[in-house]
Amino acid sequence: MSFSVAGYIVSLSDCPIGSPIHYDQVMDSTNSVAKHLPDEERQHGLVVLADHQTAGRGQYQRTWLSAPAQNLTFSVVLRPARSNGISMMKQVAALAVVDTLTSIGLSDAAIKWPNDVMIGNRKVAGILVEAVFKGSVLDRVIIGIGLNVHQTEFAEDVRYIATSVAQHLSHPPTRETLLANLMRNLHQRYSQWEKHDHALKESIQKHIIGIGSWCHIRINNIPQPEPVKPVGVDDEGHLIVINDQLRPIQFTHEDVRIDRPAEPL
Ligand code: BTN
Repeated sequence: MSFSVAGYIVSLSDCPIGSPIHYDQVMDSTNSVAKHLPDEERQHGLVVLADHQTAGRGQYQRTWLSAPAQNLTFSVVLRPARSNGISMMKQVAALAVVDTLTSIGLSDAAIKWPNDVMIGNRKVAGILVEAVFKGSVLDRVIIGIGLNVHQTEFAEDVRYIATSVAQHLSHPPTRETLLANLMRNLHQRYSQWEKHDHALKESIQKHIIGIGSWCHIRINNIPQPEPVKPVGVDDEGHLIVINDQLRPIQFTHEDVRIDRPAEPL
């Protein structure tokens, strides 16, 4: 069934993030459409949503595949007044997804660093954040989210690593209700980010899989021989880990991934 813009707007009520909505049944990629909207349409809070993407993009130049009209594939335009701490926007979005899933009873939703959302050890949502600059000035941030909602059959290569809301709830909410709920959570977390609210960092840290445990990591997709212990996130949104000498290391690099917990040293 096509997305009901009217149903969504009613559920959204007067949330400052989530409208207007630019909806089409088919787009190449909602992130690409959001990037190329004319200047007058790029207002803070605008959502671009498609039922089907023909060229959905994931991180690391991967493709994002999603069954047509079953899931949520959308992008939100944000226009922050500052560019420092923009790295944290990925975790702001991931946390808003976790908040939303938790609120519908999926209490084991968690963030796999940097910005995958998992239920158990399967991925339910992926996030692609892109910053657009005008000259050297940050103009806007595009938060692209693919959240598996009603899809229950997945392609062979992701069958054992992907999941959806419907695989965990017998009565999943409609896409419209879920998106409105997610926009309210995104607004709340984004407001915390704007105010440098310490509670935001604490919530992010609380939900990252592997914090406080020795974990294997990959840097630029290369598995590292020695495990490290992620201990938190700094104000810029970078990951802080300690190594086996208990020396703190800050990963400013986007390409650090926490793979899996290791045995205690
Ligand atoms: C990832 O896990 O690799 C990130 C996936 C992000 C997919 C979403 S779907 C909506 C938006 N438009 C895109 O082309 N990509 C993002």
